[in-house]
Amino acid sequence: MSSKRSSFTGKIGFVLAAAGSAVGLGNIWRFPYLAAKYGGGIFLLVYIALSVTFGFSLMVAEIAIGRKSGKSAIEAFGSLDKRFSFLGWLAALVPVIILPYYSVIGGWVVKYFFGFVSGSAGAMAQDSYFGNYIGSVWQPLMWFAIFIGLTAVIVLFGVEKGIEKVSKVMMPILILLTAFIAIYTICSMDNAWGGVIYYIKPDFSKFSIMTVVAATGQLFYSMSLAMGIMITFGSYMKKDISIEKSAKQIEIFDTGVAFLAGLMIIPAVYSFSGGDEAALAQKGAGLMFETLPKVFDGMPGGTIIGVAFFFMVFLAALTSSISLMETIVSIFMDKFKLGRKVSCLIVLGISVIIGVPASLGYSAWGEVKVLGMQLLDFFDFASNSVMMPIIAFLTCVFVTFILKPNTVVEEIELSGKFKWKKLYEIVIKYVAPVCILAILASSVLDAFGIVKI
Ligand code: PHE
Repeated sequence: MSSKRSSFTGKIGFVLAAAGSAVGLGNIWRFPYLAAKYGGGIFLLVYIALSVTFGFSLMVAEIAIGRKSGKSAIEAFGSLDKRFSFLGWLAALVPVIILPYYSVIGGWVVKYFFGFVSGSAGAMAQDSYFGNYIGSVWQPLMWFAIFIGLTAVIVLFGVEKGIEKVSKVMMPILILLTAFIAIYTICSMDNAWGGVIYYIKPDFSKFSIMTVVAATGQLFYSMSLAMGIMITFGSYMKKDISIEKSAKQIEIFDTGVAFLAGLMIIPAVYSFSGGDEAALAQKGAGLMFETLPKVFDGMPGGTIIGVAFFFMVFLAALTSSISLMETIVSIFMDKFKLGRKVSCLIVLGISVIIGVPASLGYSAWGEVKVLGMQLLDFFDFASNSVMMPIIAFLTCVFVTFILKPNTVVEEIELSGKFKWKKLYEIVIKYVAPVCILAILASSVLDAFGIVKI
């Protein structure tokens, strides 16, 4: 994404590039552990309900804002109304916080990929392996440096087209591989079917406001919403491509991959824990890394599958981290009139400053807690549960009162009828702002321990 506004190569090009940004660790690493933690089927149901309402409406609005203004997020709001310039800046801050800790997890993925390549599959299947690994100081830092360094090198050479190409090949393989592992697990492991039921069948007694808080944060994160990324993508989109259809396709891709990832991981954990649901609820960020090596260990040809799988996850993470970094770099280039090289170096520097503590939070700085959270969790919380809801709320206000919902409708109808217009209008004007405020209030009250939800 150089400063001149080029377009994607065609219909599928836009969807693929946006899906390349959307599908990443959020789907494969974050979604399954949240689903396991927040009640399985009920989380899935809330997530899907939110994605067809909130997710859809915000996504079409963001893409339309981008395409109408022809500008990236940081300028788009301000160019449509000066008073909202700050919203562009606020949105731009989110990738700055996410990229570093995203790259820490990306580093874990690279480590596991090389682990499988070098034949350590057996060792990685041991219970204590993951804990020992993230509990060490230098190794995770080194893999983090490799991941962020690689992202920086790719962004340095300016490869917007590259994301499209990589996504085209990676996406189908990732989907097939995930589906294959899920089917294999379900068919071959004891009790796995109970895990499928836990994951798919909503148990309303497990519902709490935190289920909605977690699902909303996950929705923003996974679909790259409320951080200006879809606005930037929209600014590259040609006028004759349907925003509505593209948004639906991106959502289906994104939710489909997340769903399959859950199906691959949750029944397996359920089986390993001997059908203990309470054990699932205690799982955290390490879930994927602890479970999958065990699954692969028991599989014929498991090492090869492990290599292929972690490679695909690595690519998915990389296309996302590239779009995160590209967004920040293009801001430095446009706003501060810096060259690409200098901008990349600055962003790399900021990422190291935030990423190193996020990584050390599991080892040397394990004692450091913010609001009772370990550092990586805190960065995750601050961006997903606080900043993104604020941005999403203000975006709704902006669309409703400044831009007017109809402007978005007109932009969308440039390429045909807007079928879900009514739903979009109701969500953007009423449902989303009210719910988002409620969600924001509960997550903040909960984090400060004022109300235990
Ligand atoms: N949506 C990406 C994921 O699910 C994360 C991401 C967020 C990527 C924001 C780019 C921008 O992994």
